[in-house]
Amino acid sequence: MEFLLKADLKCSGRVSEAVSASEIEELVKHCNIELLKKGAPPGCGAEIVGCKVAGEKIGLNIVSDRFIRAHDALLRLKNEFAKFLGQHRIGIRGMEIEDYEIAMEWEEGLEIKKLPFVREIKHEEGRIKLFLDVDEFSLEKRIPDRIIRLLADKREAARWKGKKEHWELLFESNKKRFFFDKDPTEELIKRDWIKHAAGRGQWIYGPQLTKIFRAFERVLFDNLLKPLGYEEMIFPKFVPWAVWKRSGHAKGIYPEAYYVCTPKTRDPEFWEEVMDYYKVTNEIPLNMIKERIEPVGGMCYAQCPPFWVFLQGKIIPDETLPIKIFDRSGTSHRYESGGLHGIERLDEFHRVEIVWIGKKEHVIEHAKQLREKYRRIFEEFLDIEWREAWVTPWFMAQEGKAGMAELKEIGTIDYEAILPYSGKWLEFQNVSVNGDKYPKGFSVKLQSGEDLWSGCSGVGLERWAAAFLAQKGLEQDKWPAKFRSAVGELPEVFRFL
Ligand code: SER
Ligand code: ZN
Repeated sequence: MEFLLKADLKCSGRVSEAVSASEIEELVKHCNIELLKKGAPPGCGAEIVGCKVAGEKIGLNIVSDRFIRAHDALLRLKNEFAKFLGQHRIGIRGMEIEDYEIAMEWEEGLEIKKLPFVREIKHEEGRIKLFLDVDEFSLEKRIPDRIIRLLADKREAARWKGKKEHWELLFESNKKRFFFDKDPTEELIKRDWIKHAAGRGQWIYGPQLTKIFRAFERVLFDNLLKPLGYEEMIFPKFVPWAVWKRSGHAKGIYPEAYYVCTPKTRDPEFWEEVMDYYKVTNEIPLNMIKERIEPVGGMCYAQCPPFWVFLQGKIIPDETLPIKIFDRSGTSHRYESGGLHGIERLDEFHRVEIVWIGKKEHVIEHAKQLREKYRRIFEEFLDIEWREAWVTPWFMAQEGKAGMAELKEIGTIDYEAILPYSGKWLEFQNVSVNGDKYPKGFSVKLQSGEDLWSGCSGVGLERWAAAFLAQKGLEQDKWPAKFRSAVGELPEVFRFL
């Protein structure tokens, strides 16, 4: 990696008159030998290769390697020069970055077209050259370091893209008897049990399917949540940016988020034009609205992230572990990319989110207990054909990092059920061990100082229904007796003429 930086130190007085050329030369020599080598291996570091004083400006040309990056060198120099000039009653007012060029080795064939704070990118035989557009403030904010990190991430992502997403079978149930071979959504619509709502990928669930959803929840509660000692909480369903910054979603959620905006002001006058426009056209004036709102975050997406604010900045006594909580208080929203399909792939869905927190070995162990309980539910209550697979962790996928967790301690298990009507497997829930990602991201500590870990598991009600109904159909007498009695009688409320 090579760095070439041209910058001016802007001073409060005419340096050329106060200081002699040989004094500056001495200072530069001293910096080159000591200051710009400090912390680098022998023979490495940064170097001033040109220094020109003109009136109130000191122009510096700095070259460096990856050990002391040129912008770090410049920040060191600013202090050193300030000390020196102080003796002559001259201060440094600021810096101007004229040119900043970073060159490094790069994969052939991986073209980067655009980067923030980069005015030009050149690719030449196994190398990439960046021409940065940065000022003093961005150097202090370590923007160049972050750009270099970003490039490393992009390279990593490109390596993963070629490969298939990681998928490894862990468990497969016995073959089961199917009583249905159609798309359950079609049948549900035909029977008026559900209707597509006004929104994209959004459904209205009639009394029958709602009762089935509630039965799923009850089965889950009686056979998993309660015996494992879970307590219910209510997590927020609007997620402000601050949460997604800490959860990592801010790195990549944009193509899938449902955005939330607030009015820039509540003042009715500010909105009058919009109201009037609607009244005379019956059209919603989208552009006028866009000017008057502020994106403040998005709708619940992964469900557990906004919970962590509850623990943010706290120290937890070891004896309160493990913490086991769940939320089923609202919808999740995703702008689905893979194409919407009935109740299998939707933009608005319902999920019970289960979160457990503890020390590493307990969190890993607890995931096993959950898996056993799930297994019993799928065998005894739903009697479905399903399998478990180790996959790319959901949070890594959502952060745009598809690299798999190496040790297999951290990661996601997806549950999939076969859909007889299509022969495809549908992912209907997951169990994830998230490592220390959340406690770290939200600064939650353990009293003993040991590492705090967490896991989460999302039970998608629509997905459970899609899997179950696709295999067992809508005739209750074909359902496993235990589930039939968990559901009870299906209500008949509506009839249409
Ligand atoms: N939070 C996890 C997810 O979004 C589990 O529900 O998949
Ligand atoms: Zn979660």
